[in-house]
Amino acid sequence: MTLHQHSDALSLADPYQQVQKMLDAVPDFAALHAAVELDVFEALATQTMTGDELADTCGADPDAMSRLLSWLHARGFVSCSPTGYRLTELGHVLTAEASPSQRYAVLVAGSTYWWNAIGRLAHTVRRGQPTQPEGQPVYEYLACTPGLADQFDRFMTARSTAVGRDLASLDGWTDIRRVTDLGGGLGGVLAALVHAHPHLRGVLAERPGVTARAHAHLKEQGLLGRIEIIAADIFEEVPRGAQRYLLSSILHNYSDEACLSLLTEVGHALRDNAGGQVWIVEGMLPRRTSTPSPWYATDIRMMSLFQGGRVRRVSHLRRLAEQAGLTIVHATRLPCGQTLLAAHLRPN
Ligand SMILES: C[S@@+](CC[C@H](N)C(=O)[O-])C[C@H]1O[C@@H](n2cnc3c(N)ncnc32)[C@H](O)[C@@H]1O
Repeated sequence: MTLHQHSDALSLADPYQQVQKMLDAVPDFAALHAAVELDVFEALATQTMTGDELADTCGADPDAMSRLLSWLHARGFVSCSPTGYRLTELGHVLTAEASPSQRYAVLVAGSTYWWNAIGRLAHTVRRGQPTQPEGQPVYEYLACTPGLADQFDRFMTARSTAVGRDLASLDGWTDIRRVTDLGGGLGGVLAALVHAHPHLRGVLAERPGVTARAHAHLKEQGLLGRIEIIAADIFEEVPRGAQRYLLSSILHNYSDEACLSLLTEVGHALRDNAGGQVWIVEGMLPRRTSTPSPWYATDIRMMSLFQGGRVRRVSHLRRLAEQAGLTIVHATRLPCGQTLLAAHLRPN
């Protein structure tokens, strides 16, 4: 072991240093968010620029911009030469044109609503429920904040690329004619499915504001003929007639009671199609609490944002499904890190 490796290993094991890393993550994220919000990555997407040129283009103070650029350089988002700064591969993933892009995830996580929600976590843990930052639940707040809603939809769409690809690569689509994605965002998962399986027709059920954006998004991809868009509150109405229903990253936003009621409604819709299934796809906590998992962080995020929202274990979702009259017949970890639970109606 070299001296360098030895000191790295030591500092990783040192509890004081471990906590210091977590403390530093706060200004690190704030700097990343500032750079995205100021469009530094967009400005550098096509050209090399000096610090002063960037300050001018991004409407920033030159000295403050040079310090932000030093941070971006130290973290590997930009490289520096005598002609100026340019994006590295790491920096490119923060641009809008990257596929998938992390730009919108950063904008949403750094938005006032998200930031305030996580900042009040101690209060939330004391009460057991979040105090919603603007006095409004997340989806109601998004409905009246179009800029953030657009960023949120793009954030979800970027994540759904991998989910759609993983689901499309599974067996069992041949006999499916219609698949309905409940709360399917802009239709990213459905787009991947219908691309991979030309015989499939998709139905996207979403909140009214989102459907307008989904319409534009799917039109751009020439998919309006293959994906029908329905404006619906899925807790009030589950569109009938599909052989497969998808609930992708939906249940973790809701309480057990709300999940039970939604799963029961989906069960009613499945009665029309013998052999029909609902596919629940989201991050799930490991069976043992000692197993490290990124989904613990997502669970904290859900607790900060949504009344009753939580990342669950497979056993918890299995219980909810059973209470709703469904049986989980298949559980699999997808390459994207999320878990798929396939359930069908329990025979009487
Ligand atoms: C966390 S996002 C997941 C989006 C998408 N399913 C995915 O996996 O990328 C949750 C989605 O559910 C939608 N949603 C939440 N409550 C809903 C409701 N009551 N009716 C219809 N859609 C809803 C939201 O608008 C949002 O697009």
